Amino acid sequence: MPKALITGSGMVACALQAQASAHGYAAVLLPRSRLDVTDADGVRELIAAEQPELVLHTAALTRVNYCQEHPDEAYAVNRDGTANVVAAARLSGAALVYFSTDYVFNGDNDRPWLESDPPAPLNTYGASKLAGEQHVVEYERGYIVRTSGVFGSRAPEPERNFFQAIAARLRADETASIDVVCDQFTAITYAQHLAEMVYAVLASPPARCLHLTSAGSDHWAGWAHLAAGILGADPARIRDIATPLPESTPRPRNSVLGSAYKGMEQLIAAHPARQGLADYLAPVP
Ligand SMILES: NC(=O)c1ccc[n+]([C@@H]2O[C@H](COP(=O)([O-])OP(=O)(O)OC[C@H]3O[C@@H](n4cnc5c(N)ncnc54)[C@H](OP(=O)(O)O)[C@@H]3O)[C@@H](O)[C@H]2O)c1
Repeated sequence: MPKALITGSGMVACALQAQASAHGYAAVLLPRSRLDVTDADGVRELIAAEQPELVLHTAALTRVNYCQEHPDEAYAVNRDGTANVVAAARLSGAALVYFSTDYVFNGDNDRPWLESDPPAPLNTYGASKLAGEQHVVEYERGYIVRTSGVFGSRAPEPERNFFQAIAARLRADETASIDVVCDQFTAITYAQHLAEMVYAVLASPPARCLHLTSAGSDHWAGWAHLAAGILGADPARIRDIATPLPESTPRPRNSVLGSAYKGMEQLIAAHPARQGLADYLAPVP
């Protein structure tokens, strides 16, 4: 079986690992404790020793507010760490998939963002991920997959995502209401859906940059209402609010991603966000 190295061990990494063998890859998951992507020598040595066919580069600083407050760290991991992974993949000739974000766009659009739209990030997280993309573009075997609103399980550490936070708050206090913004629209993505779609397109990617999410879009409050319903809580406990101003970390008003490439719409439509959310929040025992 060809070998796939997966940087990081978060939600997307765990989903990619779980599905690798079904798609013909022997996957090696590389938690930060085994490979810190900011260590250029370590990255080069490990990739040279493992000789993978494919590097799935998911490792990133993903906490948007934290990145805003720690820009040096955000750029060190998301831009420079990516440069290290790209350089090592190039040396060993491996194909590379870099996971990027809807936050490369500024939100100033009334339709889904396509791969050809010009990025203009509003915050440090988006800017540092875009800077990472620029290293991937320079490698002829490098591919960019932009996604958004990821949720999914990880182990052994618990995952951190919007729905896990909503579920924890709904369970912690059975009467309290929760304020959620209703003026930021996004597509959400079940990590298992993303992994399935990535493996499906890997054999013949239609382009070097692709947008892949679960199907459906709404504002965050709408997604929270749906989650509350799945969890058996009263959806009225989610209170729709406008984004409080001033924003310490600006976020795009519309970051829904769409794809311009043939076949992608059908692939995305086969992975409905509602179903992914139900599978995640209320798994069948
Ligand atoms: N989560 C989203 O909503 C979202 C949306 C759009 C795009 N993406 C992109 O999708 C990719 C996967 O994200 P995810 O949702 O799986 O995030 P996640 O669950 O936060 O996982 C991120 C992983 O990166 C690791 N990491 C952080 N700094 C590292 C370093 N210096 N060296 C090695 N590993 C490091 C983390 O390690 P620790 O656990 O030790 O911190 C964690 O395992 C990321 O590239 C992200 O930018 C995510």
